[in-house]
Amino acid sequence: MQVTLRKGFEVQPRKEELEPIEMASRAEIAALQREGLKRTLRHAYANVPHYRKRFDEARIHPDDFKELEDLRKFPFSTKEDLRANYPFGMFAVPREKVVRIHASSGTTGKPTVVGYTKADIDIWSDLMARSIRASGGRAGMKVHVAYGYGLFTGGLGAHYGSERLGCTTIPVSGGMTERQVQLIQDFEPDIIMVTPSYMLAILDEFRAKGIDPRKSSLKVGIFGAEPWTNAMRAEIEEAFDMHAVDIYGLSEVMGPGVANECVETKDGLHVWEDHFFPEIIDPQTGAVLPDGEKGELVFTSLSKEAMPVVRYRTRDLTRLLPGTARSMRRMEKITGRSDDMLIIRGVNVFPTQVEEQILRCPGLAAHYQIEVTREGRLDEMRVLVEAREDFTDAGSRVAQGDLLCRQVKDLIGVTAKVSVVEPGAIERSLGKAKRVVDKRPKE
Ligand code: DLL
Repeated sequence: MQVTLRKGFEVQPRKEELEPIEMASRAEIAALQREGLKRTLRHAYANVPHYRKRFDEARIHPDDFKELEDLRKFPFSTKEDLRANYPFGMFAVPREKVVRIHASSGTTGKPTVVGYTKADIDIWSDLMARSIRASGGRAGMKVHVAYGYGLFTGGLGAHYGSERLGCTTIPVSGGMTERQVQLIQDFEPDIIMVTPSYMLAILDEFRAKGIDPRKSSLKVGIFGAEPWTNAMRAEIEEAFDMHAVDIYGLSEVMGPGVANECVETKDGLHVWEDHFFPEIIDPQTGAVLPDGEKGELVFTSLSKEAMPVVRYRTRDLTRLLPGTARSMRRMEKITGRSDDMLIIRGVNVFPTQVEEQILRCPGLAAHYQIEVTREGRLDEMRVLVEAREDFTDAGSRVAQGDLLCRQVKDLIGVTAKVSVVEPGAIERSLGKAKRVVDKRPKE
């Protein structure tokens, strides 16, 4: 397959660089999954009171699991279950065996806490190394990690994977945007790992300093932790003359590196199915949907020790597709979470749909926020979006605002108010961008 060269760089890994399992047959993968699921169901039932209770209530026992399809008889788990068992109630090993804790803040209530044994950290490092290699990385490269370090899994997850692959790892963490640019200029990393929204903030800083981002050393960006569109990919790839590759994961299931795109195809994310069993369900009924149909992504871990998860509902919406560059199945780029879906006068809207339309307007930049208010009984949507540098005069702003308004109406089917603001007016996040500001009265 012909891969577009960025900075003349051949990024595609050679066949012999891959792990055998990456090219295994579907039968081999299924056999591994059967064993892994059996192990996980037993481990969870024997060691986590929450799972024992739920399995007993559903009158199902790990011994009832024989074939992959049997998994659907087992109950789901959710973020609420993790919260109800805060902080360590979901652990399946004695606390002394847990060598690392992470937590995701969430927007309301207690954080969700996750734990890892030494073996869990080892597998996570391997899978992150695999993800970085799929993105075009290889031993000896320099990797600038700008995901946040701390309780968030992004920074340390990327860090361990990069070291495992044999890369020179630069643990910058998020924030201090000027310094990010300075370090990219001075250390000349090949790869950057960061949220796509923060990459745009770094891009702005390059421009503010009068430095041409296309002349930077960066060849590959590994972007995730939030939804982003192919339009955003094109924007970043052009601006930096680099490959932009999608990485997915969530703390409850492991952290980053549950699934990753391959740089040679960029056609969705290969789920590392030797460690995670994916299902797609109808979010309303819980019924399992066939591959190819869109619904909520659900994961069961196959090898986790400290915190096995059984049928964990991610709230992320996607579909499963057959493997291409690897034999493991792909998940389509995530368009949004069921929690992020806005219902504007009966029409379902995801922020990524608005992002796509913004990037079709030549004078608008991908820095945006969506405000939702309630006028009487009806929800109203207002898009705040920044003008690009050459479009800041009043006339261009009005024209670009009208253009976006029309596109949102024609292509998404909702009426939105649009305010085109000055470059830099929308607050930059250092990690995940906050796309929706909900100003509706709480019920
Ligand atoms: O965001 C882990 C991560 C770190 C992934 C760095 C990739 C890179 P949490 O903070 O627990 O973990 O948030 C997980 O973020 O359920 C998705 O809704 C969203 N998310 C993560 N990656 C992507 C992606 C990390 N590539 C939640 N595309 C998930 C869309 C993503 N959404």
